[in-house]
Amino acid sequence: MNRKYRKTLIAGNWKMNKTATETKEFMTKLKAIMPKGRWCDIALCVPAVSIGTAVRAVRETRIGIGAQNCNANPSGAYTGEISTDMLVDAGCKYVILGHSERRAMGETDGEINAKVHAALNAGLIPIVCVGESLEHRENGITEEWVSMQVKLALKDVDAEKIRKVVIAYEPIWAIGTGRTATPEQAEAVCEHIRAVVRKLYTSKHARAMTILYGGSMNEKNAYELLAQPDIDGGLIGGASLVAEKFVQIIEASNQPIA
Ligand code: 13P
Repeated sequence: MNRKYRKTLIAGNWKMNKTATETKEFMTKLKAIMPKGRWCDIALCVPAVSIGTAVRAVRETRIGIGAQNCNANPSGAYTGEISTDMLVDAGCKYVILGHSERRAMGETDGEINAKVHAALNAGLIPIVCVGESLEHRENGITEEWVSMQVKLALKDVDAEKIRKVVIAYEPIWAIGTGRTATPEQAEAVCEHIRAVVRKLYTSKHARAMTILYGGSMNEKNAYELLAQPDIDGGLIGGASLVAEKFVQIIEASNQPIA
């Protein structure tokens, strides 16, 4: 991380876990043990049905609530879908886009790009996920693959709006597997992502962008991952479901200003 130039963000992705009742219990516990310092932004991206409960529970705290997906259309006949305006109205600040689990369900780079535009237009902070499979890594095309995903996700996003975008590097082979990327592996790709943003925009934009690492990040490995210069935070699955572990990761991000 480099807190001189950019924000640190510790974000939880709850995926399809916890009912609204459990969400309320979690937030009560989290509030009781939340560190008082303000060295990072904190987000919890919860299932859509729990957004209202989560937003109410964290009122008057600095925890931001996020969604895990949105539809790019403003409204209409899209059964089961949720628009960005609905998310904003419900109190969301963030939305995760392009998670590999959604890409595996058929989400395309074009759809992700449309969602990025919709989120930015609505005033949401998109957390755009990119990452390679084990096969890509073994074939030596990790950087190529990730650059392509970044470029397609950010297509036609203007320089003014890019300041709002967060990118999360999540190698698919590290998600939910307990097999974390080494700090060096994660740093190499996050640094590469920053270089891609530099080429697409300017060095100032690249320097200011918050880039997260995600994939089996937990209370034990967080400090070392977050100590890397281009890793500005985490997108945490499993460990964000346990308030004590999530707090320990928040604490691990309290590192000296580089
Ligand atoms: P885990 O932390 O459970 O590996 O999940 C990572 C992830 O996919 C966050 O979006």
